[in-house]
Amino acid sequence: MAKAKPVFFCASCGHESPRWLGRCPGCDAWNSFAEAPVSAAASSRPGASPALGRRAARSAGPVLVPLREVETGDRPRVSTGMQEFDTLLGGGVVAGSVILIGGEPGVGKSTLLLDVLARLARVAGPAVYLSGEESAAQTKLRAQRLGGAGDVLLVAESNLGPVLDEVERAGARVLVVDSIQTVYLEGCESGVGSVAQVRECAQAIQHFAKRTGCATFVVGHVTKDGAIAGPRLLEHLVDTVLYFEGDGAAGLRVLRSYKNRFGSVDEICVFAMGESGLREITEPSKRFLDGRSSRASGSCVVPGIVGSRPILLEVQALLAGAAYGTPRRLASSLDAGRLAIVLAVLEKHAGLLVGGQDVYASVAGGLRIAEPASDLALALAIASAHRNVALPHDLVAFGELGLSGEVRGVGQGERRLAEAARLGFTTAIVPHAARGAAAPRGMRVIPVDDVARALAAAWEIA
Ligand code: TYD
Ligand code: MG
Repeated sequence: MAKAKPVFFCASCGHESPRWLGRCPGCDAWNSFAEAPVSAAASSRPGASPALGRRAARSAGPVLVPLREVETGDRPRVSTGMQEFDTLLGGGVVAGSVILIGGEPGVGKSTLLLDVLARLARVAGPAVYLSGEESAAQTKLRAQRLGGAGDVLLVAESNLGPVLDEVERAGARVLVVDSIQTVYLEGCESGVGSVAQVRECAQAIQHFAKRTGCATFVVGHVTKDGAIAGPRLLEHLVDTVLYFEGDGAAGLRVLRSYKNRFGSVDEICVFAMGESGLREITEPSKRFLDGRSSRASGSCVVPGIVGSRPILLEVQALLAGAAYGTPRRLASSLDAGRLAIVLAVLEKHAGLLVGGQDVYASVAGGLRIAEPASDLALALAIASAHRNVALPHDLVAFGELGLSGEVRGVGQGERRLAEAARLGFTTAIVPHAARGAAAPRGMRVIPVDDVARALAAAWEIA
């Protein structure tokens, strides 16, 4: 009898081919083809192997399934033991999920992930750190600073295919790929770190994680101008995207969720970099207000809502005589467009002319504020800088400025006031629409309906 010719099939989707393929045309998985002799494939039907079973099901044509009958499967979560980081992820690390962590070089990605891995190695099972950037010795030195990472399995190798096979053999429950820009797949011709290579590697990782249930963290670099073959294009390939933001001033590092299939977005987790790695800050409001001067002009505190929690932030403004040419408008951790609008509204509706001066506005601590609720605090900070008179130290303000100078209501007024009161603030300038919000005991609430009245109220108590 003639020897049976081998057939190859994709372990991910069951696609069959008479020859080995680096990439599956059915599901785009890399290195997923395995050999099965024709006789074995034939005798094993239907479904001795899950992959062949799927293939058999597939060969019968597409199946339409009512949504109610679709099984969601268990998605167990594991706690990292870092409370804030768990919350950021939506309640721990989901098995089989792929989490991208982006940020500028030196911000602390490797430090955080080695720490997370060490913790998960103790509770979840084998944990692997793929270091494509640093030598094993360098990673060990970092581990020594962090302590307790002795059980983490290290692989200093850039060829992703064999690494994923080995990680699967080891039965790993967590994997860190540090970084996606330094690994490659043999089947892909493009250079390491190129757009194509990064995308193929991310796809291979995604398939690996889904197939094995191994949660995988992927590090991606972003440069200041964001021009990089990396994280941006990866965002839609992964389940969760976390970015480190801020300039690291005051040693604070803010990690924010931009996408999360297993939790809410825009949550933040604040860390301080210390001698032995990153430490979670459980009282971010206090830390962001640290070092606030009581007599400086150009400062106003806003009780903001970041993700699901209220956080107090200090908005600062500085006006300086422009030397020549067009005056500068510089916004840091604030939207430049909002700054321009607030300046225009102040000029038009409160008669505050900053025309020829440079205007610098920022949020102390480097946490980015995106919500318009900070408009009023920004306007007050600018007005305070303009008059060179400090606002009361125990004042907060929130509200959105409309183009007609009106102060518009914003959500969650009561939570904002409660957080301000908890941290010792006693006066709040709020939108008229929020006048009904239950004021915490000892808090004086001043409702205003336009920007001119807001400024007048502030000068009355200043
Ligand atoms: P790193 O985690 O390597 O940043 P990334 O992977 O994002 O490039 O390191 C961040 C910086 O933190 C680095 O300059 C060294 C410093 N660091 C500490 O201050 N304390 C520590 O315990 C560790 C491990 C690093
Ligand atoms: Mg690193």
